[in-house]
Amino acid sequence: MTKPLIIGTPLSPAATKVMLLGSGELGKEVIIALQRLGIETIAVDRYVNAPGHQVAHRAHVVNMADGAGLRKLIEQEQPQFIVPEIEAIDTGMLVEIERMGIARVIPTARAAQLTMHREGIRRLAVETLGLPASSYAFASSLKELRAAIEKGIGYPCIVKPVMSSSGKGQSKIDSTEEVETAWNYAASGSRVDQGRVIVESFIDFDYEITQLTVRAMNANGDIETHFCEPIGHIQIHGDYVESWQPQTMSLLALQRARYIAEKITDNLGGLGIFGVELFVKGDDVWFSEVSPRPHDTGMVTMCSQFQNEFELHARAILGLPVNTDLRAPGASAVIYGQLDQKAIAFSGVDEALRVPQSDLRLFGKPESFINRRMGVALANGVDTVEARFRAKLAASRVMAVKNTA
Ligand SMILES: Nc1ncnc2c1ncn2[C@@H]1O[C@H](COP(=O)(O)OP(=O)(O)OP(=O)(O)O)[C@@H](O)[C@H]1O
Ligand SMILES: [Mg+2]
Repeated sequence: MTKPLIIGTPLSPAATKVMLLGSGELGKEVIIALQRLGIETIAVDRYVNAPGHQVAHRAHVVNMADGAGLRKLIEQEQPQFIVPEIEAIDTGMLVEIERMGIARVIPTARAAQLTMHREGIRRLAVETLGLPASSYAFASSLKELRAAIEKGIGYPCIVKPVMSSSGKGQSKIDSTEEVETAWNYAASGSRVDQGRVIVESFIDFDYEITQLTVRAMNANGDIETHFCEPIGHIQIHGDYVESWQPQTMSLLALQRARYIAEKITDNLGGLGIFGVELFVKGDDVWFSEVSPRPHDTGMVTMCSQFQNEFELHARAILGLPVNTDLRAPGASAVIYGQLDQKAIAFSGVDEALRVPQSDLRLFGKPESFINRRMGVALANGVDTVEARFRAKLAASRVMAVKNTA
């Protein structure tokens, strides 16, 4: 049981302060939602002029894997809430911060710690909670990886570094000749732990979804779980390119998806939004992973829900009521950098916005890479088929050009 907050005036001694750890495009939208509620916002990222830096009251550049440096900043800024937006944080330090009551970590320090590591969350989901997932094994050497595949996982399978995101270091393998390449690739894409991978049996799903799940307080001060409509998405090389809401599902599959989502988020605890990633084939549903924060595929909610996932996160954190209702079928399509260059410009924004019921977000990232996500097109339609067509059309009209100014 937690009490709703009294919100103070920003930039005064009574301010209610929230610090975002990670200030990319998702953090930027969370900050905007918090700003609208009169919260003082502090954006932290590892590089200068990150998207969230540009809309926060204060911006800091810190390597968040450096616990001592980050802790110093927390003690200096004294936020009441710390909101991780990325996984690559010294979460051991966050556990300390929470234990000492210095700030509240969203949703909990334990959730941040467990979900940054595929081993922690997978063992919790399957071995503790009994949720269905692909078969899996962990390996700390090429030899162990080979043995795990031969002994049980079989082919095809997917090899992933235990600490990575956005598909980095991840490969699908179909035969024994590919194991060594996959091992080496995983080691190159791993964030921290160079020598450990998870190998998962390949699930031949019909489609995959993100079940956005919100833990928010009700009028009695008790935490309740709310579900958004399921979000369908397409991933290429482990990175999302397109998403839509609602994804049509059988009633049984939807019930199973929500059962899994409730079980895992209940265990992780705290307040806020979670993106529960699930694979679906017919009525069967498998748990894949969970992020205790807004999800990139959930950017579609900026056009499809009354309260988007960032507003839901902001409200839930502050102990305010939430509404997860769908407003209209919607879709999102990613806009890539198309160029490897700093300070690029975009043309065709006008043409993109001529697509009926469309909208855009350009994140303002200071440096572009050909495959870096630099923006997103959003669109509504009578159904998700029309919304997807419009979002993709709008995205295709935005062209990166060299900034000659
Ligand atoms: N066992 C599996 N069977 C089938 N497809 C899989 C499996 N594991 C992963 N995938 C595919 O690869 C994508 C990325 O995998 P996963 O979510 O585990 O990686 P990630 O690096 O955390 O990606 P992100 O950070 O973008 O969510 C999944 O969304 C799915 O499309
Ligand atoms: Mg994923």
